[in-house]
Amino acid sequence: MKTLAIDIRRADGNDAEAIAEVHHQAWLGAYSGIIPHRALTRMVGRRGSQWWKNAVKRAANVMVIEIGGEVVGYATLGRNRARQLPQQGEIYELYLKPEYQGIGLGSRLFSAARKQLRSHGLKGLVVWALEENTNALSFYEGMGGRDVAEGVEVFEAKALRKIAFAWN
Ligand SMILES: CC(C)(COP(=O)(O)OP(=O)(O)OC[C@H]1O[C@@H](n2cnc3c(N)ncnc32)[C@H](O)[C@@H]1OP(=O)(O)O)[C@@H](O)C(=O)NCCC(=O)NCCS
Repeated sequence: MKTLAIDIRRADGNDAEAIAEVHHQAWLGAYSGIIPHRALTRMVGRRGSQWWKNAVKRAANVMVIEIGGEVVGYATLGRNRARQLPQQGEIYELYLKPEYQGIGLGSRLFSAARKQLRSHGLKGLVVWALEENTNALSFYEGMGGRDVAEGVEVFEAKALRKIAFAWN
């Protein structure tokens, strides 16, 4: 039997192409049928490898999870953007390639991202998820998050509700 090493680390410019691929597959997988097709295609198209190269370079905090040297997921994190919430940190995005979902990698990446926020002195964290993304809601509930707020995001005139989960 082959043993594949799992590694979670900060992303660098060389990961840009792999992250773009994860982003593409994970977003189409998670949001097809939820976000209107045209808006989704446009959002995915905007985030090619050059976009990710810049994101990593701009010191955006991007982490990747690798299995046997292949990047299969990423997370982006930083300061909480919602002023009305007291938590200081936020995981902006957490995505895995569809074939790597449901085997415990998301929880590992989430814990690593949480630790990273804490190490930057940020207390507490929030994550937003679209209400129709029921897998994500179950995941964040399973990770012990409390739903603390809701909001609305508009995609091509379609308003979608989103929920904030918080950890203190
Ligand atoms: C959401 C996501 C990051 C979760 O990562 P994952 O690796 O699939 O989840 P894990 O295997 O680590 O599961 C951890 C726990 O979450 C819960 N969970 C995960 N997926 C679930 C699902 N589809 N339905 C119900 N519960 C689920 C379970 O409680 C699980 O606990 P268990 O170990 O007791 O079964 C991943 O599935 C993903 O990338 N999904 C598509 C993109 C997305 O929706 N991202 C979030 C955007 S806000």
